[in-house]
Amino acid sequence: MIVLGIETSCDETGVALYNTMPWESAQPASLGILGQALHSQIAMHREYGGVVPELASRDHIRRVLPLLDESLAQSGLALKDIDAVAYTQGPGLAGALLVGSAFAKSLAQGLNLPSIGVHHLEGHLLSPLLGETAPQFPFIALLVSGGHTQLMKVSGVGRYELLGETLDDAAGEAFDKTAKLLGLDYPGGAAISKLAEKGRPSQFDLPKPMLHSGDLDFSFSGLKTAVLNQVKKFQEKNITDATEVAQFHADLARAFVESLVAVLVSKSERALKQTGCKHLVLAGGVGANLQLRAALNEKATKNGFEVHYPPLDLCTDNGVMIAFAGALRLLAPNNGSTTSGAFDIKPRWDLQSNNLV
Ligand code: KG4
Ligand code: ZN
Repeated sequence: MIVLGIETSCDETGVALYNTMPWESAQPASLGILGQALHSQIAMHREYGGVVPELASRDHIRRVLPLLDESLAQSGLALKDIDAVAYTQGPGLAGALLVGSAFAKSLAQGLNLPSIGVHHLEGHLLSPLLGETAPQFPFIALLVSGGHTQLMKVSGVGRYELLGETLDDAAGEAFDKTAKLLGLDYPGGAAISKLAEKGRPSQFDLPKPMLHSGDLDFSFSGLKTAVLNQVKKFQEKNITDATEVAQFHADLARAFVESLVAVLVSKSERALKQTGCKHLVLAGGVGANLQLRAALNEKATKNGFEVHYPPLDLCTDNGVMIAFAGALRLLAPNNGSTTSGAFDIKPRWDLQSNNLV
């Protein structure tokens, strides 16, 4: 079965074609990726310091058809070869989701194909199965994106249990807000990570929020405020020497990354212990963070668990994960999840409510 995937939930337009044959014959799942095309709107939103929803929707409209053509050309396939259309049904920006839903539904109807709405986070959760060392079910997923920070127990496709989540800012949001405070462009996750490499250790004692809360929830807004306080203190010194300012930013970036990573790692270990799982999956945009990966790898070696990552280019939003998650749902028995003709989006959508029973 060849599934077309359409992702338009936020500021990336992603289109991909996935063939389920390798998955069904127990070969590496990544062999099923036949074509993938992506357009990031980051440059367009940058001057506003964040995503402008209306601009995002309009840009998805412009991009989606050329990206479909590009994916088809890459795969050497034609529209008639597609067996089903998967699209991100939610959560995300309503207008942006509507573009993907309308496009996917119209195409499916025109080609007389089933269409399936995919939960964006399910796409992220299952994408490590496309990595070099695929995890076995059940596993714990640490989902860290611009909008979400969650620990999930994944017992199978469509079998998700929320163990804990952020009470305020998401990890990616904390990265982006801190980046702004340090004068970096939106979205600043990757830039902070790079800057932190030039920072010296132990220059600031930033909080590690909820590290000892005894549960699996997170809170990052206090960490961001602590960074803001350090920035204000530094500004009061009126230091103008560029090297000194740059070193301050790097040191603070390092302290921020270390605090955030310490909390993410500690809570992930607690989730593993609590559930008895031995496999941890890292998913979502912040999953591209190299400091987080290094810290998890170190703990895994020391404490006897395995960490699985999606390929780096599939950490942030993309069409492949939607095609793949849609395909696995369609293969699941009694999934009953193909959608009707209506443009039915779910801007707010609890992943567990979409579980397969
Ligand atoms: O999953 P994603 O592409 O979009 C959402 O669904 O939110 O995640 C985007 C988030 C942004 O906040 C971005 O700053 C963060 O992922 N990010 C990173 C890195 N690369 C992207 N954060 C830390 N380190 C990185 N290398
Ligand atoms: Zn995402």
